Amino acid sequence: MSSDAQVQQSNEAWGSRLGLILAMAGNAVGLGNFLRFPGQAAANGGGSFMITYFIAFLLLGIPLMWIEWGIGRNGGRFRKGHIPGMFAAIWKHPAAKYFGVVGLVIPLVVLIYYVVLISWTLAFTWFSITGDYWGNTTQETMSAYLTSFQVIGDGTAHDFWVPFVFFFISLFLTIWILSRGISAGIEKLAIVGMPLLFVFAVVLAVRVFFLPAGPDGSTALQGFEFIFKPDLSRLGDVNVWLASAGQIFFTLSVGMGTLQCYASYLSTRDDIALSGVATAATNETAEVVLGGSIAIPAAVTFFGVAGAMTVAQSGSFNLGFVAMPIVFQGMPFGQFFGALWFGLLFIAGLTSSVAMATPIVAFFREEFGVRREVVAWTVGAIALAFGVLTILWFEYGFLWEWDYWAGTFGLAVMAFFEVILFMWIFKPENAWRSLHLGADIRIPAVFRFVMTFVTPLYLGIVLLWWLFTQAIPILTLKGGAAAGGAIAPGAEMYVHLSRLLIVGFIVFFLVMIRMAWKRNGYDDRAGFREIEDTPLGRTVA
Ligand code: ALA
Repeated sequence: MSSDAQVQQSNEAWGSRLGLILAMAGNAVGLGNFLRFPGQAAANGGGSFMITYFIAFLLLGIPLMWIEWGIGRNGGRFRKGHIPGMFAAIWKHPAAKYFGVVGLVIPLVVLIYYVVLISWTLAFTWFSITGDYWGNTTQETMSAYLTSFQVIGDGTAHDFWVPFVFFFISLFLTIWILSRGISAGIEKLAIVGMPLLFVFAVVLAVRVFFLPAGPDGSTALQGFEFIFKPDLSRLGDVNVWLASAGQIFFTLSVGMGTLQCYASYLSTRDDIALSGVATAATNETAEVVLGGSIAIPAAVTFFGVAGAMTVAQSGSFNLGFVAMPIVFQGMPFGQFFGALWFGLLFIAGLTSSVAMATPIVAFFREEFGVRREVVAWTVGAIALAFGVLTILWFEYGFLWEWDYWAGTFGLAVMAFFEVILFMWIFKPENAWRSLHLGADIRIPAVFRFVMTFVTPLYLGIVLLWWLFTQAIPILTLKGGAAAGGAIAPGAEMYVHLSRLLIVGFIVFFLVMIRMAWKRNGYDDRAGFREIEDTPLGRTVA
């Protein structure tokens, strides 16, 4: 790349340290914290899940958070805000950039279905304000109401065009903010959205705490006990361990390519050691303290512990979209609290969805010199086309299939590549030095051992277990199980199609990576030329 182009492409930076932390936290805090976490905790035994969850947080989450900030900032030294470039900056081998394809495909696929998910929260904010779902006070009727919204062609409660309208609005907002850039778009959203989100969550948590006992005498306190009372009974169940590892990845946005992209706009004079752990801590506060204090205790007061578990097991997001609306209908000012709940989810989702296209924007800006706005709106057009398909084919499990491959399995694969590259190819001593450049704290030495040995081993075991027990049945759709759950009648074709599309994205980005390297005349063995540091706050997009 010519030096002019490099200068032109390096003019993005975070406006302030607080803005950076809020944006990073906004990236991590999302639907995962308030919807996925309670659902996973309730479906996987509450207190047992929490033990495996904290182990995964310490041995996978925190180490990978640091590794991703390290990989990202190191990439930024060469103005590489995308994973193929970051991998190539660490491993001077022609294959490195191709491994990085995961860092373009995963965020694109997650972006597409994630915007569909946040559009549900926007719709339900509106339905709460207008009292649209009022009258559906049992699990059966509320589930039917939700299904009528999600499944195109089921017109019992909603016309077919309703979900599309909310999807268009959600996608437009995401892309518009993204197109404004790092400081003027993403950081500004986080500075407004994150405090608002915490206020909404605290109000809801307090409200839930004071809920009167439900019809069978169950209280919110029993809900807390269910999650927070240590329970060893399901620790022998591999699925509980896998579910908690998957939750840690998704909630922290680890393995998505987005944290690295955000970190690439930092200089070697900026701290990443303290900021990385601060981001993880903020996310966990939002997840465990606030996320754990809303949906489960509320559902338990209404349905009892066993009933809440049944709702959680009946569908990933049913605690949030079925149980909560029933709870709101039974409380004074329920429409207000309903709007607060779904509004909270929407803000949390939006601060994450804007992150997802950033690696792709960085890739086309930096390697092909395309303007940020042009890439952003092009990605928006692609997300629009595939998002519409995701909505149309929702009933066939299309969305859950993508969630499985990109949002669950893919994250573990990318994290495995990263830990091997950063700790083994880059070497622990270089990784450690790199993490401490500009650092405000020293990372406890035990983490060097954990990051070098324990994290890769943990990930390796998870992936091998998958290979030996799940790969064949899932890949061959044996026993009616697709990756995203049971196959709906007549859905085989859609399951195959969803997988084929991911393969198509992989091929497309592999070709793009090759073209980029050719176009810019990169020499894999020599590495990239280092650009001048972009100090925090020096230039604003
Ligand atoms: N980390 C984001 C979430 O939790 C993706 O929703």
